[in-house]
Amino acid sequence: MAKLCVALDVDKDRAIKLVEELSDLGLVFKIGPKLFLEGGREVIELVKDRENEVFLDLKLHDIPNTVKIAVEEAERLGIDYLTLHTLGGRRMLEWAASASQSVKLLGVTVLTSHDESYLKFLRSGFGTVEDFSLYLAETAKECGLHGVVCSVKEARRIKEKTGLFLVTPGIRISSEKGDQERVSSPEEAVRAGSDMIVMGRDIYGSRDPKEAVLSVLERICEG
Ligand code: C5P
Repeated sequence: MAKLCVALDVDKDRAIKLVEELSDLGLVFKIGPKLFLEGGREVIELVKDRENEVFLDLKLHDIPNTVKIAVEEAERLGIDYLTLHTLGGRRMLEWAASASQSVKLLGVTVLTSHDESYLKFLRSGFGTVEDFSLYLAETAKECGLHGVVCSVKEARRIKEKTGLFLVTPGIRISSEKGDQERVSSPEEAVRAGSDMIVMGRDIYGSRDPKEAVLSVLERICEG
């Protein structure tokens, strides 16, 4: 069954309350730059104490050595999943992979907030986000990464061609798109081959986050 990852894009006090409320449901908790800077270690320890998984979403993109030593530190912290940008290039990805043991490295392909206009901005030569994402996912696989982050729209093709662990954000149970351009339902994500569904605002922004999680878990099972 696909895992559900709750993005803790909130302040530290709220993140702690959410972990305390939801950790008996066997989730993955995602910590991004804001929460990590505010007091990430405390939240990481809490998630680990409660035997849930930690997803550190720092989307690293730097010179190979800087990324490699960050991966080594993530290992020391007991992080389960760590993101880095596949656009960082082959050497950066290979150096990162060489430093990973238990931390699972996830390569970000094309952010779900981007559409075709981003490909023009990059002058990539690729005509569609789907083709560009597949190219980046194949590169991630060749460089030894565990999985990739992609939109549901690209997931099926990437799964078929690479067999990588797939993480899909941009999932909605409400009608709010927010800043995401490409959104899908939990069922669509599962059917497309997603191994981990990432949800932020539709969980922590709902009146009853626990009820929202239970309803998504049910939809994942049915998907
Ligand atoms: O609130 P929402 O459900 O849109 O949150 C999505 C989460 O997934 C955010 O924490 C965002 O950083 C993350 N994410 C994303 N698109 C990617 C990679 C990660 O939206 N391609």
